[in-house]
Amino acid sequence: MLNKKTVDDLNVKGKRVLVRCDFNVPVKDGVITDDNRITASLPTIRKLMNDGAKVILCSHMGKPKGEVKPELSLAPVAERLSEKLGVEVKFAKDDNVVGENAKAAVEAMKDGDVILLENTRFRKEETKNEDNFSKELASLADIYVDDAFGSSHRAHCSTVGVTKYVAESAVGYLMEKEIEYLGNAVENPVRPFAAILGGAKVSDKINVINNLLEKVDILIIGGGMAYTFIKALGGTVGNSLLEEDKVEYAKEMIFKASQKGVKFLLPIDTVIVKEFKNDALSDIVPTGLIPDGWMGVDIGPETRSLFTEALKDAKTVVWNGPMGVFEFPNFAKGTEAIAEALAHIDGTTIIGGGDSAAAVNQLGYGDRMSHISTGGGASLEFLEGKELPGVAAVQDK
Ligand code: 3PG
Repeated sequence: MLNKKTVDDLNVKGKRVLVRCDFNVPVKDGVITDDNRITASLPTIRKLMNDGAKVILCSHMGKPKGEVKPELSLAPVAERLSEKLGVEVKFAKDDNVVGENAKAAVEAMKDGDVILLENTRFRKEETKNEDNFSKELASLADIYVDDAFGSSHRAHCSTVGVTKYVAESAVGYLMEKEIEYLGNAVENPVRPFAAILGGAKVSDKINVINNLLEKVDILIIGGGMAYTFIKALGGTVGNSLLEEDKVEYAKEMIFKASQKGVKFLLPIDTVIVKEFKNDALSDIVPTGLIPDGWMGVDIGPETRSLFTEALKDAKTVVWNGPMGVFEFPNFAKGTEAIAEALAHIDGTTIIGGGDSAAAVNQLGYGDRMSHISTGGGASLEFLEGKELPGVAAVQDK
């Protein structure tokens, strides 16, 4: 149970409330191409508007590194928010984020109004969590609400520093929901509890694997990271992704799984190519017998059946990372099979952000999952068992 203050514990009528959201959304040629994070922020914003707060939204976008980069302006987010909320969300355009324009915009607000500040990372202090910018942000508001789960693994001014300088702080509904789903899955799962990990690198998931082996009944590993495990078992992986320096670690994890009685599954067959492109000539071979000059790009048909069968009776499933190069439609079958298996599970299914969230949505299975996390890095750190600084900084109940 989360013991942090939430928006339900606040009295916000007539107060200025600074809400940190994660509006780090993909933008192409000025158009937002995936607005799930914006949609996910709406319940908290609506609640505060309805309760008569002056709602001041802020977020980062991309990595401008303290410079003003027009292509990383949050202006398109203000537009999309206005459409979704059905009221104007004024964009407080200001290269200093909390400069004269932003201050004037806040000054002019009426109860129930919403404004959006410029990209907090236009200020170089933001990612260094420097006090002066934290104080500037805090000076705009009476209360701070953190609803940016996707940024909660970052100790920055707008996620952590600001909390020192406001009278009151709380988490928003999205933050609450994310922690409830991910927290229950990890700490209190209905069993059997299965985790599926994929994606390119073992090194991104070292602590996740280690921590999850303490909790799960079934651990499935696919995607590029599987080849390091296959190598650890003595297989040959050709030109597939391989982290030589993680082979020992992979052996330790395989041993740990057997000690803990965890069913540990790796791909048994693999789709291989010589060239990294969608229409490359491909073949299917046993995973441990990939010839030189060939690389694995997806799990094969037997693995799809093996993984689907293993997941059939699971009651809690957490999935992070695709099974292959799903951006290439010809090599998306493994990822698609996992999405489909999860869609048929009679239990709780949680997608841990990033690429797997994109894959599930892209493949049209979004509505069939219990929860799709808005946090990539943040959900991984949560699964590692780490404390998230953005959550820790908020006042306790
Ligand atoms: C994300 O997209 O994972 C979050 O918005 C955090 O972004 P960052 O990795 O640039 O801090």
